[in-house]
Amino acid sequence: MNIFFPFKSLRSGLLTTYLVLIAVSLGLLAWRVGASLDASRFSETKRDQEGRAILAAGVAGDWMVNYRDQKMDHTQLWDETLTLAREINQSIALFDSQGRLLLDTEHPTEPIGLDESTLPEVNAALQGQSTTIVRYDDDDHGDAMFSVSPIRFGRDFIGVLRLELRMSLVEQTSFQFWVRIIGATLLAALVTIIVSLLFARALTDPLARISRAANAMANGDLKQRLQVNGPIEYQRLSNSFNFMAERISRVMDDQRAFVANAAHELRTPLTTIRLRAEALSEGAKDEPEVATQFLSDISNETERLSRLVDQLLSLSRLESGLVEPRRVPLALNTLAKQVIHDYAMRAQEARLVLRLNAPESLPVVNADADQMRQVMINLISNSIKFTRAGGTITVEMAARKQAHSSENLPAGNWVVTTVCDSGEGIPAEDLPHIFERFYRSDKARARDTGGAGLGLAIVKSIIDTHAGYVWATSERGKGSRIAFALPQTQPKDLS
Ligand SMILES: Nc1ncnc2c1ncn2[C@@H]1O[C@H](COP(=O)(O)OP(=O)(O)OP(=O)(O)O)[C@@H](O)[C@H]1O
Ligand SMILES: [Mg+2]
Repeated sequence: MNIFFPFKSLRSGLLTTYLVLIAVSLGLLAWRVGASLDASRFSETKRDQEGRAILAAGVAGDWMVNYRDQKMDHTQLWDETLTLAREINQSIALFDSQGRLLLDTEHPTEPIGLDESTLPEVNAALQGQSTTIVRYDDDDHGDAMFSVSPIRFGRDFIGVLRLELRMSLVEQTSFQFWVRIIGATLLAALVTIIVSLLFARALTDPLARISRAANAMANGDLKQRLQVNGPIEYQRLSNSFNFMAERISRVMDDQRAFVANAAHELRTPLTTIRLRAEALSEGAKDEPEVATQFLSDISNETERLSRLVDQLLSLSRLESGLVEPRRVPLALNTLAKQVIHDYAMRAQEARLVLRLNAPESLPVVNADADQMRQVMINLISNSIKFTRAGGTITVEMAARKQAHSSENLPAGNWVVTTVCDSGEGIPAEDLPHIFERFYRSDKARARDTGGAGLGLAIVKSIIDTHAGYVWATSERGKGSRIAFALPQTQPKDLS
């Protein structure tokens, strides 16, 4: 399990990741922003209260001076203060210039004349300061915010005005504020869940489609193809899948065609053998001439059959990739000399000149000797088969750095072997196909040269496993040139 992705499914992984990220980031954000907003709201309230206290003190100056000068009695003072308290929706307390309580709208029963000069806020106001203090209030049994302002009339200091705001009220609005912040955070989290669910769905749906298609292919439906759309990664994956499906279909088609062709090629000699054997047992054996002919037919067909089986076996071994070529440093000119020597008799019988044109100091190649011998045999026997009496077959060998422009051989150090003959040539329309399995030109088929069309397929297979190139050129009526190139052995390969 990947430590960066310890989840069972992509969907749960995405969802969890999103949720954790959003919870952490939104939570932190809400906490930081909320706390600083709350703090600034608190100091704003404090400032407000202080401002109100100063204004109220300004208003109260008139009656306080009247009260001091006894132009107004205590009841009238009460009425005026109460009206103001209602107007500004605050509780007001008034103190005289010594800090003695005159009245308190919040606590009407508080005794008049009580010395409260020791209360911190009253004390501060007696010193001439307007201020706000939060402290425990004995009367209310809770915290309260007290804002005080000195009351002046002209230059006279005549008392103190105090506003009181219970902290429970301040905290209540703060609570509502937090509820709103948390609500918004949860709403954002909910939206994120929905969006990430949809997103996870959009990410995993194509994967499910691909896996369905792969399953269908595994169950034999090779026509499965994916639509190439969506994010670029999915497009690439779909393209790879389609490419793979295409390849598999082609391989399966090839396989089917190969089996059908092989069966067809095997059936012809088998039918001949069966017919000849039946004819012999039905009486042909009693006619010596016919019997000899039929027995020789049976022998030829059996030989053809076993050659075919050998070819099929070596092709399937080569293409299965199970047998690695046993590569050794090999002098191709020496090998060619041997093969030409072995085929000298057959060439002579066909009245053909078979010769080698190779430098003595040909660079060596790294190759499997048996397979290279097979390549040369296949090429030389083709030339013998397709060249009329009196013709010439030349095996040319040369070391080459750069290939001729007509050969699409990349630059490099190659040993090129060409089997040239003066035979009938290969029709241009057949040239691109002669290396295919079971491919024979119509002429070769009509003349029934006895081959199955596997020789060059085997050649190509062998040269491919040796990282070489093989190609053919031909001019109608002037003969054919079938060539193969193998990389030269580098000095380091030899060590
Ligand atoms: N030297 C050549 N001259 C003319 N045609 C050739 C030559 N070599 C190959 N061909 C053509 O290419 C076809 C394929 O050759 P390939 O060697 O694969 O098959 P084959 O010789 O017909 O049969 P097999 O090699 O299986 O006995 C031949 O049938 C023939 O039409
Ligand atoms: Mg052949």
